[in-house]
Amino acid sequence: MGLKNWRFKEQWPEFSGLKFSDVRLIPQGLPELALSEIDLSVQLFGYQFAFPFYIEAMTGGSTLGTSINEQLAEVAAQQSLALAVGSQSVAIKFPELAADYRKLRRINPNGFMFANLGAHHNLESAKKAVDMLEANALELHINVAQELTMKNSEGDRSFYWLENINEIANKLDVPVIVKEVGFGFSQEMYRQLAQTEIAAINIGGKGGTNFAWIEHERGGEFKLDDYGLTTVESLLEAEISGNRKDLIATGGIQDAQEIIKSQMLGAKLVSSAGFMLHTLRSETDGVQALNRNIEQWKEELRRFYLLQGARDLSQLQTRELLMSPNAQLFSDVRKKSQIDYLVKSK
Ligand SMILES: Cc1cc2nc3c(=O)[nH]c(=O)nc-3n(C[C@H](O)[C@H](O)[C@H](O)COP(=O)(O)O)c2cc1C
Repeated sequence: MGLKNWRFKEQWPEFSGLKFSDVRLIPQGLPELALSEIDLSVQLFGYQFAFPFYIEAMTGGSTLGTSINEQLAEVAAQQSLALAVGSQSVAIKFPELAADYRKLRRINPNGFMFANLGAHHNLESAKKAVDMLEANALELHINVAQELTMKNSEGDRSFYWLENINEIANKLDVPVIVKEVGFGFSQEMYRQLAQTEIAAINIGGKGGTNFAWIEHERGGEFKLDDYGLTTVESLLEAEISGNRKDLIATGGIQDAQEIIKSQMLGAKLVSSAGFMLHTLRSETDGVQALNRNIEQWKEELRRFYLLQGARDLSQLQTRELLMSPNAQLFSDVRKKSQIDYLVKSK
């Protein structure tokens, strides 16, 4: 996906739906814990992530994209953060570009890296994407709403993905994650993926980067306003649907409090794309600015864990959140949909 037309969400139309402010932290004023005891690490895919957030997939295949990826890989290595690269489809089409991805592995030799491709790519391409990055996992992105808002000359119009996703998940040597790009996940989607061998779901909720808006600005004929489930709604949907796949939350993450709220709503890991890119690009020394921001998130996260009286993720996920009336209403309405589904499928 191109970088040229990317802009930060502040310039975008307001979105509706449940926001992070619809869930509030309940104070724990007697935590019986010290800051030094907090452990932010997360076990997932048989790997220990030192921190619960990472840099999400953005861009590639252009000169600007390559230099941004290199800067992101440098930050990921310095900060011991995982890093997902943007779609590698261009390097599948033009194999000479694979060298750009090999370079990222040299910059970040020991870090956890996610390869990335659209969900229509076949197993052979998936293997190539993983190999060129020596990736630890593969994200298969699903982006129907984005494709449909692309110009007729650019966007896909046919979306048969499930069988392909399952074949890749079954045969690839590394874990496969199915990832939305900003329109969120519904109960139905969780149920569809429950039947597959994928390792995790990245819910990619609405509330941050808005590809329907971007594609329309780029000349797409179909204007799709206010479409999708937000990050908070997608996490609530997971719980209501009884989802058992591990969850990663992306979509509009702006600060440490939103990371901890996402974890309390069920995500193991949380990732950010737009905010990271904005930070990297907004200052002359973007790498330093991003490093500072990430260090701040780490430190604030420790304090938020302490404010919840939680030593680690397993304790954190036993703590309750206070839901706004809108969030309660959403849950009630959508629980009814789950009950209807269960009754119908008996
Ligand atoms: C410039 C840009 C390029 C992106 N390219 C990709 C991509 O190639 N593959 C992908 O899965 N997601 C891509 N994304 C989507 C992000 O990974 C993420 O799912 C989405 O932006 C929502 O997160 P955010 O609100 O933190 O930006 C891109 C996002 C941005 C901002």
